[in-house]
Amino acid sequence: MEEFYLQTYKPTVIKVDDYEQMSAEAAKIIINLVKKKPSASLGLATGSSPVGTYERLIRDHEQNGTKYATVTTYNLDEYVGISPSHHQSYAFFMKEHLFDKIDILAKNTHIPSGSSLDLEKVCEEYEAKIKGIGGVDLQVLGVGTNGHIGFNEPGISFSSKVHVAELAQETRDSNARFFNSHEEVPKQAVTMGISTILLSKKIVLLASGKAKSYALKALLKDELNEEIPINALRYHRDVTIIADKEALSLSIN
Ligand code: GLP
Repeated sequence: MEEFYLQTYKPTVIKVDDYEQMSAEAAKIIINLVKKKPSASLGLATGSSPVGTYERLIRDHEQNGTKYATVTTYNLDEYVGISPSHHQSYAFFMKEHLFDKIDILAKNTHIPSGSSLDLEKVCEEYEAKIKGIGGVDLQVLGVGTNGHIGFNEPGISFSSKVHVAELAQETRDSNARFFNSHEEVPKQAVTMGISTILLSKKIVLLASGKAKSYALKALLKDELNEEIPINALRYHRDVTIIADKEALSLSIN
């Protein structure tokens, strides 16, 4: 594992005008991979950042027939304590925004269970699954306003594996918009750890809007600060950041 952390790399940055362009660029990368490698494994994210990308994958599937029947997916994270049928669970999100609208097989989609009574086992098995395939071919990431990736909050060890994370107050506040009340926002989530994410062969991170500018500055401009999870991406040799002007406003002119 430590071998990840010997060398740093510069991510490729694709600067776009807005959310729509960001989504188009990301969809292009995913579609090209799936066409080239029909058995590709995709690491998927939730949140508002990838929704436009997923919409484009669906449109392309309908119009051009790109196939997902042999693709496998591994989601980054899931809230603890809500069932997969809960409207705010990430399992529900993925069905609604992608899985139910393309020809992917349910058995090929993997999301850790946040409602299991044995979360330790869920974490161990999920880590083993991802290790078993040698890391996903392509991991799609969003980023939290505080620089979290998946639900790896500031201060998490870069050698973390799949684990149960306590959500930071800032993360619960930003995600409260999806729930009926602030109290309903889960306090924990099962998430791929930083080292699990770094196993991916390629990483594409999406960022749109001013709220993400602090996180991108931490990655692209500031001194390396390992307290901020997004900085782990400096240790991966194949990272592409697709970000709009606003998200890049503090780091690239
Ligand atoms: C959540 C998710 C992250 C996501 C982040 C940003 O906390 N666990 O995977 O990247 O939010 O969300 P959004 O894309 O909605 O800004």
